[in-house]
Amino acid sequence: MKGNLESRVNILLLDQNLEELHMLQGLVEKIIKCDIRSSDNVREAVQMITKSVPDLIITEWELADDDAAELLKILMKHEEWATIPVIICSSIRSEEVRSRAKQLGVYDFLNKPVNRYILSWNLGLLFSVPESELAAASDVTAVEADYRARFDRRKIAQISALAPLPELAQKIMELTHEPSYSPKDLAELVKQDQSLTAKILKIVNSAYYGFPRKIGNIDRAIVILGFNEVSNITIAACLMQVFPDDGEEKQLFDRRMFWTHTLGTAYIARALSGSVKDVSRRDAFVMGLLHDLGKVVLDQHFNEVFKYLLAAAAERNEPLHKVSHEILKIDHAEIGGIIAESWKLPPKLVRAITYHHSPGLARLDDHSVHIAHLANCFCHIKDIGASGNPVPDKPYDGSFIALKQQHKNLDDIWESLKIDIDSIKLLI
Ligand SMILES: [Fe+2]
Ligand SMILES: [Fe+2]
Repeated sequence: MKGNLESRVNILLLDQNLEELHMLQGLVEKIIKCDIRSSDNVREAVQMITKSVPDLIITEWELADDDAAELLKILMKHEEWATIPVIICSSIRSEEVRSRAKQLGVYDFLNKPVNRYILSWNLGLLFSVPESELAAASDVTAVEADYRARFDRRKIAQISALAPLPELAQKIMELTHEPSYSPKDLAELVKQDQSLTAKILKIVNSAYYGFPRKIGNIDRAIVILGFNEVSNITIAACLMQVFPDDGEEKQLFDRRMFWTHTLGTAYIARALSGSVKDVSRRDAFVMGLLHDLGKVVLDQHFNEVFKYLLAAAAERNEPLHKVSHEILKIDHAEIGGIIAESWKLPPKLVRAITYHHSPGLARLDDHSVHIAHLANCFCHIKDIGASGNPVPDKPYDGSFIALKQQHKNLDDIWESLKIDIDSIKLLI
């Protein structure tokens, strides 16, 4: 492919929506020196390709006369055309369409509205253009300044009001410390919310707990699993309800995978807390659940900025929190800490959230931080769910010392935790 930008790239753009076609054209022209031809239908596109073979085709999935699958099939039949890279930029979020496109050999499938950074990354790879030579790269600093401007720190302070800790979760966290609180109270609270009850029962009946017979109601779940376990599951289910998996397939941040990562970290943190006396199993579990709270807040309240951070981390192959610091001067751990503080969660929980990526900043006897850090590391190492971070942390040596595990190797520590990975993956 072309090795430099002396030669102009010949691009064919296809979209049946004229406005979007113009927007895409403007975007591509900003990124790379090119000659662009455009159309809204497959028939005309084939005529254009016959006249002159493009270096790249960028197309929406649905076109005026047919869909891109038809075009891809035509390309495959011609030897000279079969190697033309095709990038789909589409509003369609269907998993089926994506896998069909992949089978038909598309180079990449991007969501609309197209993220300039991701598109320019693709074009750089395709045409072997160093990042510094891409036109968009020259104003990356400007782009990042724009994202920084859009990210208003003052808004984080307001978010606790916008996204309060679910009332029920808060009540459970407060009440479980009160001696007069009974399992009956918990069951009564939970039963008021049918979808929450359903979510809790789904987790209770998952392979993780492995009961041979289905548990049909909350009272029964409390009898069998115990009050503490059901309280924990309820807090998890409450959080998932506030920040639900919207069913959309996401390339960089998939909420379902994220909740699996979160639950995995919670169960691992709880197992790790066995080696210290000052962090209860309950606190460790909640800590694991909440450690990446900042990502949820970014995803919900600064979505564009968050998408940019995810794309930039993937493209630079650097840890998400590092990239976030470079661009926003703050990361999800600190944002999560600010929110947790405003929710008036216990200080050790706030510290665990804030320092889970920088345990070296915490004291060695601040066990909650080291538990959260190692649980998160194990969750990545064992591939449980996904958190949007392309380069996970290496476990910090000091954390092993803090938890008195420094004389064991990683595998032995993992073995001693007795975590069933497969069943965690099936929890939600
Ligand atoms: Fe994190
Ligand atoms: Fe994490």
